[in-house]
Amino acid sequence: MPLSGRWTLTRYLIEERRRFPGASGDFNALVLDVAMACKAIARIVAFGTLADTVGTSMPNGIGADVNGANGAGPLGGQVNVQGEVQKPLDVLSNEIFVRMNEWNGHLAGLASEEMDEARQIPNSYPRGKYLLVFDPLDGSSNIDVNVSVGSIFSVLRAPDDVIASGRDVTEADFLQPGAAQVAAGYAIYGPSTMLVLSVGNGVAGFTLNPNLGEFVLSHADIRVPEETQEFAINTSNSRFWEPPVKRYVDECLAGKTGPRGKDFNMRWIASMVAEAHRILMRGGVFLYPRDTKDPAKPGRLRLLYEANPVGYLIEQAGGRASTGRQPILGVKPSTLHQRIGFVFGSKSEVERIERYHHEPVPSEAPAPLFAPRSLFRD
Ligand code: AHG
Ligand code: MN
Ligand code: MN
Repeated sequence: MPLSGRWTLTRYLIEERRRFPGASGDFNALVLDVAMACKAIARIVAFGTLADTVGTSMPNGIGADVNGANGAGPLGGQVNVQGEVQKPLDVLSNEIFVRMNEWNGHLAGLASEEMDEARQIPNSYPRGKYLLVFDPLDGSSNIDVNVSVGSIFSVLRAPDDVIASGRDVTEADFLQPGAAQVAAGYAIYGPSTMLVLSVGNGVAGFTLNPNLGEFVLSHADIRVPEETQEFAINTSNSRFWEPPVKRYVDECLAGKTGPRGKDFNMRWIASMVAEAHRILMRGGVFLYPRDTKDPAKPGRLRLLYEANPVGYLIEQAGGRASTGRQPILGVKPSTLHQRIGFVFGSKSEVERIERYHHEPVPSEAPAPLFAPRSLFRD
């Protein structure tokens, strides 16, 4: 890992590839195309509410339909398989990811938050050995209020028979545990655009130099600090939390005079990608736990394109990523859009939360001697 000088993303990938003398370069080319898609999305996000005026400036006709030019009506407004209304930028970002990656011959298939089913590589292009899974725009509810959003991606190896036969991919081909990821990363579109990436050898952060249009290595070997005094959770859900989560948060809120003996600070951005970035930069813990809000949804976040890639980065950076009960990367997915409880960040905090989930729940009833109408109460 370089300690000085400014490597481009391309150089970083080439230096990493030298660890594998037999590597073909397909993987590096794939990551560079993903990075290109992120740069394109960064430009569009930067237009904010004016985004509907930039559609035709994209290569390959991407976004040409942004104003309904094909008669299909304006982008967005449809409900995706999650039951969420798609914003125009959700749809456009998805299209950018697909168009900038389907042609290169490195992919066997793609899957995304915004596509109900796995997407085939068109017959006009060669098929490759990787699967790309992505959330093209995370935190899209924040677009209208000009708060950081991002794109999250995960690279898996396609099953051997897919590679050998070049057959169409099925949902089952994507249902691999997070530990099987070849690479994962995200781009964050904030005051600066950054790409944070792991190819299985630690985590590196690249800042977009807008003059060059290049991602430049700015954060070599990112590590999550082991201890923290900062937590992130959507407390409006507190009445739906399970007892171990309630206990953990109550103890944080009790501060110096509580069982933790220290004060905690709290954050909630509502862009998981931005929370992950903060935690990679300065530590902290994030919880979107399983709760009882909607029995049909065991958690808010999606396993394959939110929890697994972020979990991979966090673990590669020395933190811990969990369902609250077990390591997230060990979970065998059951469906493409599966939701799951997700807790990640500084190792000691995540381990504590897991411990609380495994300990018996202390009874909330007051001790008998101090119960109302007992001997010791007036
Ligand atoms: P997306 O915009 O891709 O649908 O994801 C939004 C997610 C995640 O980024 C964030 O942490 C969470 O939703 C916010 O949930 P609340 O609205 O409950 O705060
Ligand atoms: Mn998301
Ligand atoms: Mn999204």
